[in-house]
Amino acid sequence: MRAPGWPGLIRQYGKYLPVTDKTPVVTLLEGGTPLIPAPKLSKWAGGGVKLYLKYEGLNPTGSFKDRGMTMAISKAKEEGAQAVVCASTGNTAASAAAYAARAGIPCIILIPKGAVALGKLAQGLMHGAKVLQVLGNFDDALTVVRDLGRSYRITIVNSINPYRIEGQKTGAFEICDVLGKAPAFQAMPVGNAGNITAYWKGYREYLSAGKIKKTPVMLGFQAAGSAPIVHGKPVADPHTIATAIKIGNPASWKSAVAARDQSGGLIRAVTDDEILAAYRALSSLEGVFCEPASAAGVAGVRALARKGYFRACKDRTIACILTGHGLKDPSAAISQFGRIHSVPPTPAAVAKALGLKGR
Ligand code: F0G
Repeated sequence: MRAPGWPGLIRQYGKYLPVTDKTPVVTLLEGGTPLIPAPKLSKWAGGGVKLYLKYEGLNPTGSFKDRGMTMAISKAKEEGAQAVVCASTGNTAASAAAYAARAGIPCIILIPKGAVALGKLAQGLMHGAKVLQVLGNFDDALTVVRDLGRSYRITIVNSINPYRIEGQKTGAFEICDVLGKAPAFQAMPVGNAGNITAYWKGYREYLSAGKIKKTPVMLGFQAAGSAPIVHGKPVADPHTIATAIKIGNPASWKSAVAARDQSGGLIRAVTDDEILAAYRALSSLEGVFCEPASAAGVAGVRALARKGYFRACKDRTIACILTGHGLKDPSAAISQFGRIHSVPPTPAAVAKALGLKGR
């Protein structure tokens, strides 16, 4: 969908965004990501669903965060910010670091020690951010960032910054622009809960603008070891292989619940095994490599299909938001699925290892 000459999402969707002619647009030409039909994965999920994959891993830093960050950093620059700061499970950090570099604004990143995928860490460092590991989890890091924002002249670029939500809502616009209507359902992972908030805002705004006639049912999924919204209370020590959504006390909790309830949707938990199965199916059946957290939406759809959730629905079109690229977290792929055999460098040995038969 990223047409030749795609101008980045602020210029594409400026009339829906809080920008003026005076806003210095800091862009890496993010957005315009493809909505890929996934027929084999749809069969795998079952229930007669028709899945589309919004491949957000194709944004400039490899995740949907770039949509929010082009807005947050452009506005920070407009307001003369001296530095920006975020807590992050990795992707926000990578994106903030890249856009801040482009804007010429210093960037400070707080990450939970030992819980950030390698690719994301490399990005933050390469873009020249000041990276600190907090001896605690994401929730601890975000608490520190909120305090710093109150006490020092630095701008917070986590999704508690409303410009982040504004930018991220454009994902919903793009899906509707491609389909010519809203999908019947949208499935996505939920971590700090900014993105489900943003997509729901986007769909409602497109409805008000007369661009769509109906909004989708929102289906959010948390990892079972890290599912505060599902259980209705914070999780003190969250755990999951999907480190991007290892969050025990989401900042946008209330607005996520509102998106769920207003859309007639749900927020449920999926196990790490279900996430890994979807992660593998996406890569091996459709050639679409996303990071583990991103597969939670597809895992959730499959679990719902098995319970007959879609049985009564005529329209089973589902947009699954694949929030981050698989290359962000190579260790997850290799540790789970990377058994490689070693062979001597001879045709006979290779043929034997592969079980090839002679002509
Ligand atoms: N998927 C990926 C790949 C993410 O990086 C995140 C969040 C989510 C899903 C969940 O989105 O927080 O808006 O509900 N990552 C944040 C970060 C927390 O710091 O990069 P959410």
